[in-house]
Amino acid sequence: MYIWTRIQQLIHLTMRIDILTCVPNLLESFFAHSILKRAQQGGFVEVNVHDIRDYSTNKHRTIDDYAFGGGAGMVMQIEPIARCIQALQADRNYDEIIYLTPDGELLQQRAVNQLSLKGNLILLCGHYKGVDQRVRDLFVTKEISIGDYVLSGGELAAAVLADAIIRLLPGVLNDETSALTDSFQDNLLAPPVYTRPADYEGSKVPDILMSGHEAKIEEWRYEQAVKRTRERRPDLLK
Ligand code: ADE
Repeated sequence: MYIWTRIQQLIHLTMRIDILTCVPNLLESFFAHSILKRAQQGGFVEVNVHDIRDYSTNKHRTIDDYAFGGGAGMVMQIEPIARCIQALQADRNYDEIIYLTPDGELLQQRAVNQLSLKGNLILLCGHYKGVDQRVRDLFVTKEISIGDYVLSGGELAAAVLADAIIRLLPGVLNDETSALTDSFQDNLLAPPVYTRPADYEGSKVPDILMSGHEAKIEEWRYEQAVKRTRERRPDLLK
């Protein structure tokens, strides 16, 4: 495992994701388990979580202040975020600096696919009323929302985005083809799946899946995917 990790790093196959947050604990456990843990151990991705408070020059480590012009809610200041980003940029170039925000571009599989081809990404998590607009104007290259609802911070959104990207990196999933047959690849929802028992209290698995006829099974799966998409997400078929 170690040698493979080193080789991947040498030929720059390891994606690097740096996440900037003022609540690092929220994210650390998320990346310490399951597929995301294995992806890091296997050298497919390196995830680093940075506490923006470490870049505050204030003895109370504050990183927010009142909004100019008044109004409820605090705004995250530019200086600590700028210092953190510049410290990272001193060591490497970043392909994208992504700000997670409800007014960003709605996340779709297509964008996830594209981001999975990048080398180095910064994900910036906002809190309170968000970040000073100048952070967005001067540093951020992409703004992403994970849905039309407001979370209490960008951390869960960053975790969602990182998870969706990392599982696409070649070698991360055991079954190489399984990411290709996910919902939304091909603009289709995934077909139903079954496992043992073949008969659960009279509720049976479709005969075709037990037939061993590969071509017919593929055809059935495609039809089911189209049917499900037409019923649940007709907008995808347009
Ligand atoms: N921060 C708060 N809500 C969010 C959302 N829906 N998407 C991305 N970042 C967010």
